[in-house]
Amino acid sequence: MSSNTPSLSRPPVLVVTCQLPALAQQRLEALTDVEVRQHGSLQSMPRAALLGALADADGLICVLSDRIDAEAVQAFGPRLRVVSTVSVGYDHVDVAAVQRRGVRIGNTPGVLTDATADTTVLLALMAARRAKQALALAEGGGGGFVLAGELGSQFTGKALGIIGLGRIGCATAARLLPFGIARVVYAGSRAHAERATPLGAEYVTLPELLRVADIVCICCPLTEQTAGLIGRGALASMKPSAILVNTARGAIVCHDALLEALDAGRIAHAALDVTDPEPLPVEHPLLRHPRCTVLPHIGSATEETRSAMANLAIDNALAGIQGRPMVAEVGEPGPKASAD
Ligand code: DGY
Repeated sequence: MSSNTPSLSRPPVLVVTCQLPALAQQRLEALTDVEVRQHGSLQSMPRAALLGALADADGLICVLSDRIDAEAVQAFGPRLRVVSTVSVGYDHVDVAAVQRRGVRIGNTPGVLTDATADTTVLLALMAARRAKQALALAEGGGGGFVLAGELGSQFTGKALGIIGLGRIGCATAARLLPFGIARVVYAGSRAHAERATPLGAEYVTLPELLRVADIVCICCPLTEQTAGLIGRGALASMKPSAILVNTARGAIVCHDALLEALDAGRIAHAALDVTDPEPLPVEHPLLRHPRCTVLPHIGSATEETRSAMANLAIDNALAGIQGRPMVAEVGEPGPKASAD
């Protein structure tokens, strides 16, 4: 037997970095063909515990706050066969370094599309209708009907710009179109241009999208190309009445530039489900900004979706441990496991 071949003298060990949603947790606890070593808390395993646990693991189920970087890869033991992340995005995984070790990577595309698109619409509406200011007013005992007060904007006749027309981008456009959106433009990869046709979405360059869109939704994965994509220049080219919604990854938007743009009235409102870092420090000015709405990365946080994600991650982990095809494997040809 080669030194890389796991010994059969013990069941495979599956390390799980946090508690799973109830139904998936029950399934995990009922598994008999693996030994589950789980950090039994909602928050993920402390870093040192993760690095230690990797030495003896056959499989890992992790979440997007677990950095599977060069240091973690160094800590991989010889038995590790699969890293299964409970997320569609895998920017927290050093894919090349993991795959160089012969370890497969699973992710959870598809099952979170609807929930994340719902959250994108929620944020777009909150931004357009100034919900943050209105809530503050009501909670402060103010408000009531004021004819010329708290006036937002509506979607009827407006142009929607989607950066990244993947699954979530498409589902977002499909949800917003019935609000009376007059035009949908998209920028980013044209790999799935056929998705644009039923939505009547036109491909434009990013500068053009930023110039014409009233609602800009960021739905693309975080990559080397998209990190910092929405910086000073991009924000300056948006309409002063435009709203920016980010449900993808915080690092796509430069937060200092966003703060400047909001302060200077260069855009009307930003609504972020994702930030960099996560969470933002409590004193961060974007949290208090009247024209910035921040949610704590709840894009996919429904019972149904988080259970489906965790179940898919279990499927991927078991398939990886047992050397079977995964439901969604990063790096497979085709769109199956793409991070959108
Ligand atoms: C993901 O799965 O990448 C999402 O960000 C979770 O909401």
